Amino acid sequence: QARPLVDRYGRTITYLRVSVTDRCDFRCTYCMSENMQFLPRKEVLSFEEVDQIVAAFVSRGVKKLRLTGGEPLVRRDIMALVTRLGTYLGQGLEELTLTTNGSQLRRHAQGLASAGVRRINVSLDTLDEKRFAEITRRGRIADVLDGIDAATEAGIKVKINMVAMRGINDDEIEPMMLWAHGRGHSLTLIEGMPLGDVGMDRVDAYLPLKEMRERIMQRYTLEPTSYRTGGPARYDRVRETGGVLGFITPMSHNFCESCNRVRLTATGQLYMCLGQEDMVDLRQAIREGGPGALDDAMERAMILKPKGHDFILDRDHTGPAVSRHMSVTGG
Ligand code: GTP
Ligand code: 5AD
Ligand code: SF4
Repeated sequence: QARPLVDRYGRTITYLRVSVTDRCDFRCTYCMSENMQFLPRKEVLSFEEVDQIVAAFVSRGVKKLRLTGGEPLVRRDIMALVTRLGTYLGQGLEELTLTTNGSQLRRHAQGLASAGVRRINVSLDTLDEKRFAEITRRGRIADVLDGIDAATEAGIKVKINMVAMRGINDDEIEPMMLWAHGRGHSLTLIEGMPLGDVGMDRVDAYLPLKEMRERIMQRYTLEPTSYRTGGPARYDRVRETGGVLGFITPMSHNFCESCNRVRLTATGQLYMCLGQEDMVDLRQAIREGGPGALDDAMERAMILKPKGHDFILDRDHTGPAVSRHMSVTGG
């Protein structure tokens, strides 16, 4: 059996998130600034390199692989990579999935299903067309809704991610839940994190878990459920809808103690935490190192993994806690 990847705090790494591009066709206000500088394409890992790194992680016990971005489906020829990574399913890998903005999902849904994707997360913060255009700056909600339907038609389970923001979409928590549950999708509410300078006021927009729950519990009953996805969300079942509601609360209740994940950027840097500046350069290990260099770099990474993040969000700490944008680390 493979030697598991275990960090200094005894946490075993079983979940690898791979950002396949820092680019995106949207510019969500909480994620990016209007003028983003994207990485030159030559810096980005080739599919062969991604495959090599994924293989190394799977051989060390990674069971769950999630492609992120940026927007993963805007990477050229992405389905070739997904298909290739799908071959690890059943060979140690248990789940291959994506987090997507859904804009290109219609086109790719069938291919994803054929590659072995059973479940995907789609970011959708509002159901209102105009508000959607404001939040994403470039997106068209019709494309995303159509993409979600296409995924469902292809037999892929959809989980909706909603970053809940005061004064921006907090009035839609209930309608979003009813809409999602009515269609058989689960909904996860996320607290905004201070990553990257995006020019929006994150302090004003911050909506803590307690308030999200209060908004729901005015009219609905939350019941415990054994539902788990191996990610940071904690789930409840809503008695009245029968649907699943998740909460991701990095700010108010961090979940670092049970963290099982690391993330690879599009250019091959491995970050052990969203809230850490330190990383290990796996691209250098595979491009310049000898045999064994990649495995050594992975071991070094385990030592670097911090106990947790220390995001702060208040008036005395202006500016992002981490300068890197979410689209670089992939969430
Ligand atoms: P599931 O497999 O459905 O559990 O997905 P997931 O929650 O692991 O992934 P997704 O890409 O949908 O991420 C949802 C939110 O969780 C995003 O805002 C991520 O940034 C955030 N998130 C995921 N992992 C971590 C983590 O380790 N730390 C923090 N602070 N946030 C995380
Ligand atoms: N805080 C929390 N979630 C974020 N996302 C993007 N930026 C942030 C942020 N600053 C979400 C997206 C997507 C997921 C990968 O991360 O909405 O669903
Ligand atoms: Fe693109 Fe997702 Fe960031 Fe929106 S949140 S700009 S869809 S990467």
